Amino acid sequence: MKFETKAIRIQSDRSQHREHSTPIHPTSSFVFESAEQMQDVFSGKENGNIYSRFTNPSVEEFQTKLAALEGVESCMATATGMAAVFTSLMAFLKKGDHIIASRAIFGSSFQVISQTLPEYGITCTFVDPRKMETWNDAVNQNSKMLFLESPSNPGLELIDLEKASVFAKTHNLLLNIDNCFATPYLQEPAKWGADIITHSATKFIDGQGRVMGGAILGKKEIVEKAYLFVRRTGPSLSPFNAWVLSKSLETLAVRMDRHCSNALALAKWLEKNDKVKKVNYPFLASHPQYEIAQKQMSQGGGIVTFEIDGGLEDGVNFLNSLKMLSLTANLGDSRSIASHPASTTHLRVPEEDRLKLGITNSLIRISTGLEHIDDIIEDIDQALS
Ligand SMILES: Cc1ncc(COP(=O)(O)O)c(C=O)c1O
Repeated sequence: MKFETKAIRIQSDRSQHREHSTPIHPTSSFVFESAEQMQDVFSGKENGNIYSRFTNPSVEEFQTKLAALEGVESCMATATGMAAVFTSLMAFLKKGDHIIASRAIFGSSFQVISQTLPEYGITCTFVDPRKMETWNDAVNQNSKMLFLESPSNPGLELIDLEKASVFAKTHNLLLNIDNCFATPYLQEPAKWGADIITHSATKFIDGQGRVMGGAILGKKEIVEKAYLFVRRTGPSLSPFNAWVLSKSLETLAVRMDRHCSNALALAKWLEKNDKVKKVNYPFLASHPQYEIAQKQMSQGGGIVTFEIDGGLEDGVNFLNSLKMLSLTANLGDSRSIASHPASTTHLRVPEEDRLKLGITNSLIRISTGLEHIDDIIEDIDQALS
């Protein structure tokens, strides 16, 4: 089956009511016919659900479908994207280990790797994603993992996943990729050799700003480790959120096509606007890593960033002048969203460090929604004016 068909036709068994849509199983635990059956399921002699922190049929449907779409053997769902990122680190690293990570990663991932992991005796070195030739210097005898994000949030920096995979294999590192911005519809990291793939399902996978969720994907033995970590520590996905996300996957392809066509049209329009200094979008020929985007992504994604020809105040004024676009912390929603990283998400990051991430004072991030492109452009045009 093709991507779109798998996203719609992979579903759990119907109940006795023969519902056409997918059933939902909001239950904390599952009952047994007898004490003997309970013992058999607990001991693993018989397959079956015990408790929804461990497994749940609604969660299982979401996991099975997402694994098929990502082209991997297995998936473990989590309560949020950060629970997936944290699990993808803690389930595979231990005291004394060292991790190499791109410096261009989502803020909370950066904080977990730079601040939380060292508290547990796991050290880290950050590398420039655009200078792979310098990565060798970061490797030491305790290095166990390479953690990357491509495209990155919010800088839209890319990493050649094929070359990163060769590097990881050469140094015996687990390759861990956050595939949140691309989704499996635009980019399949496993095809290039990623061992662990994480998602914030809160973003494009839900796509309508309703629920939080996350996932860790890879080969069976990788996901089994993540499963044990989640089962013990508790950040499992709720059955309701799993049901919402499973339904969301049915429309992922059509939504992503529209997100991408709107984002590309917006990026091209912004490039021609004289109030705009710079536009950043992976499928613009002017993107410094356009060739990498063409090689490993089928479209450029839903996020566009641009710099207003001005300073911090102009960025804030721009946001205040928008009439339709939402000012909110999410992205990947059907509603277009504008944000100004320098005065919000990256307010506490020193300016020098912000600039290294490409976050200038007038940088605006647009999560291009599914509204008509003319209306999106009209709002941005009047706000720029
Ligand atoms: C690239 C990336 N990874 C992970 C996360 C964390 O996801 P969540 O907010 O669902 O915990 C985000 C959230 O914005 C993100 O953008």
